[in-house]
Amino acid sequence: MDVWILESAEAVAVKAADICADLIQQKPDARLGLATGTTPQALYAELIRRNQLGHLSFSRIETFNLDEYLGVGPQHPQSFQQAMRNSLFAHVDVDPANTHVPAGDSPDPVAEAASYEALIKARGGIDLQILGIGRNGHIGFNEPGSSLGSRTRVKTLSRATLRDNRLGKPDFEAPIMAITMGIATILDAKALLVLATGEAKAAAVAAALEGPLTASCPASAIQLHPDATVILDPAAAADLRLTDYYELVDQARRRLTSR
Ligand code: GLP
Repeated sequence: MDVWILESAEAVAVKAADICADLIQQKPDARLGLATGTTPQALYAELIRRNQLGHLSFSRIETFNLDEYLGVGPQHPQSFQQAMRNSLFAHVDVDPANTHVPAGDSPDPVAEAASYEALIKARGGIDLQILGIGRNGHIGFNEPGSSLGSRTRVKTLSRATLRDNRLGKPDFEAPIMAITMGIATILDAKALLVLATGEAKAAAVAAALEGPLTASCPASAIQLHPDATVILDPAAAADLRLTDYYELVDQARRRLTSR
């Protein structure tokens, strides 16, 4: 795990955008795994900025979102599909046909989950998966207790997640189920880019990075991935015990690059 503790949430977004931009430069037809939620919004804004300046093109990029609420169609104002259109797709040169989100309104969600998993595989797998972390340690909608070997499937959301997802949306009756990539699906990505900002995430981040590998904290599965980069602001990093070591790694990295 490569852990970066940067000075602010803005710096987290810029560093994450640098990583995405490097990948897109090396591989203009890269397959990106995307997340919804508040955390990646600043990253998406930065990617839009770079795209509009002509520094970065999504014209050959294919995207796969982690999850979608069950029973929610793509035009539903609270769908993740709609959220992605608003926060990224509508503002960059990505081909809408290349943006994939599980069909939450499928008449057969079990089959939809299996075919989403198969689609990712058929397209050659995800090059870089962007992840946020839920306050309860979830990734995607893999709630505590999710099998570390899980694949894309229908999951019931925890009460804590339901509460978090309703924050600021008093009128939204959040569905209690979702289709989500599984933990093993996420771990199949060639690289992971995990972002967390704000004090509300400090405990989940510490459990994920430095706690035991356990289904009770699905984000701890990132410890299994050989190419995981974690970018944090100081508030999200506040409960880490190995900060001194992460700083040492950072110093060593700077020394290497200044040679
Ligand atoms: C959600 C999503 C996750 C997201 C997480 C954290 O419910 N399914 O993909 O990473 O919660 O959200 P936020 O970034 O808003 O804290």
